[in-house]
Amino acid sequence: MFETIDHVGVAVLDLERVAGVYGAAFGMPVVHRETVESQGVEAALLGIGDAHVELLRPLGPETVVGRFIAKRGEGLHHVAYRVDDIDAALAGLREAGVELIDTEARVGIRRSRVAFVHPKAVAGVLTELVEPAAELDH
Ligand code: CO
Repeated sequence: MFETIDHVGVAVLDLERVAGVYGAAFGMPVVHRETVESQGVEAALLGIGDAHVELLRPLGPETVVGRFIAKRGEGLHHVAYRVDDIDAALAGLREAGVELIDTEARVGIRRSRVAFVHPKAVAGVLTELVEPAAELDH
């Protein structure tokens, strides 16, 4: 059901500066950029093996990531796991009694389907499920 770590989400204020550190110092290039209005973020994906670090810059202070940074500062925001069938994965979690933020998948970055598990269910770690789009259009 859960296949691998898809990405780790990091909340940042200065996306260019942080992307520069990953790129220049860690050799992790920006492989995709996207503004996801529905989630109130500008995102950049940095490649590492088959996975990514997802930098998230809030579009405003009243967004989810904006409120996160106001409360806790920049830093690790969520861990995302790749699944092949997000509907089945969500059904399985519901059956297991795991508290969900999203009971239905919604559209995420790169036309993936995503849903969030409540951090209360996972020791305070905001957890995302990602079903990648069948074909990636980078
Ligand atoms: Co994410």
